[in-house]
Amino acid sequence: GDVFTYDPGFTSTAACESAITYIDGDVGELLHRGYPIEQLAEHSHFLEVCYLLLYGELPSAEKLAHFERTVTRHTMVHEQMHNFFRGFRRDAHPMATMVGVVGAMSAFYHDSTDINDPWQREVAAFRLIAKLPTIAAMAYKYSVGQPFVYPKNSLDYAGNFLHMCFSVPAEEYVVNPVLAKAMDRIMMLHADHEQNASTSTVRLAGSSGANPFACIAAGIACLWGPAHGGANQACLEMLREIGTVDRIPEYIRRAKDKDDSFRLMGFGHRVYKNFDPRAKVMKESADEVLELLGVHNNPTLQVAKELERIALEDEYFVSKKLYPNVDFYSGIILDAIGFPTAMFTPIFALSRTVGWISQWKEMIADPTQKIGRPRQLYTGAAKRDYLAVEKR
Ligand code: CMC
Repeated sequence: GDVFTYDPGFTSTAACESAITYIDGDVGELLHRGYPIEQLAEHSHFLEVCYLLLYGELPSAEKLAHFERTVTRHTMVHEQMHNFFRGFRRDAHPMATMVGVVGAMSAFYHDSTDINDPWQREVAAFRLIAKLPTIAAMAYKYSVGQPFVYPKNSLDYAGNFLHMCFSVPAEEYVVNPVLAKAMDRIMMLHADHEQNASTSTVRLAGSSGANPFACIAAGIACLWGPAHGGANQACLEMLREIGTVDRIPEYIRRAKDKDDSFRLMGFGHRVYKNFDPRAKVMKESADEVLELLGVHNNPTLQVAKELERIALEDEYFVSKKLYPNVDFYSGIILDAIGFPTAMFTPIFALSRTVGWISQWKEMIADPTQKIGRPRQLYTGAAKRDYLAVEKR
């Protein structure tokens, strides 16, 4: 038969051409459409980065305003969708709810499931970017037994998300600008990351011609795993489980032990072998938010700081190039803002939606695009004859 290159985990296979995001893992560089993430984090904001990822250039003031108005117009979800949420158990993981509800969007917005119409692809992108925060917030509200909160379009994207999560009808909720800024930054730092597992999933699903909502639901499902987006939840839970600084050596020992499958969550990355540039920016935000909230010495933070210090000096972690990644710091911020750990990965999902949909649009518009169809190295039984049951 044919001979194929064996590349488990696609560590050396490019599956597509893309002009959206560039990563140089050796030097720790991340560029969106050529712009370094550090500059975007300092000067830009999430919706502007969305525009940049989708269209390739930074918008003029007029184009940005138009873009923001269009996203804003789509923030509400179909009222009938409320019933869909109510079908879930209250203790469902919000990621489970999101996989279901986002998949169901194709049944609510079937006008924009026509992938051959460029305008409908555009509308699908707007709908996804606008509605994902609403859906994530609804999943949260449902899980805590509070009424759904409608989006408030006078707020900015990040502030609106905080509003939908934390306001209740009984009281006035005022969005704290420092928290909104931290939220915006978390969204921006997660917006795209070239061909990671969930983005590759979206592309593979989309390569068959599936509608965009179905593709994004597939991306959310992939993101959920603890080796990928689920790491932010797993990391904070690990920090809590460690509990006190004196227990850290035990976990470090386990992480190094070949016979123990335990890994330090929030450490390591497939591509970054120097440092994760997103983690640097995220660490700054973490310091700001903790300062604002007056969280200085809670046990989780103490454990995080000490773990970070040890891992950066320890021979094993240094030699394997394992550094704290973006999820290590984002969890600390989200915890300080007041999100339960189960919401960490949904927040990653709503932030990555723009990356997924930009990559999906790029793929659909690419005339060389083919259905994704990996081959395999067959290791099973050789050809043999069927044996009647009484002869087995
Ligand atoms: N703790 C302890 N040892 C580790 C860790 C870790 N977190 N990560 C990797 N290693 C070791 C691993 O045991 C292996 O050792 P050896 O060469 O002796 O067998 C070596 O480092 C290389 O690991 P790998 O699994 O071959 O590397 P990979 O590129 O396939 O995995 C990773 C990358 C991110 C899945 C992995 O580092 C990991 O599981 N980290 C913890 C989960 C995590 O934080 N994920 C979030 C990634 S950033 C956000 C995102 O993009 O989703």
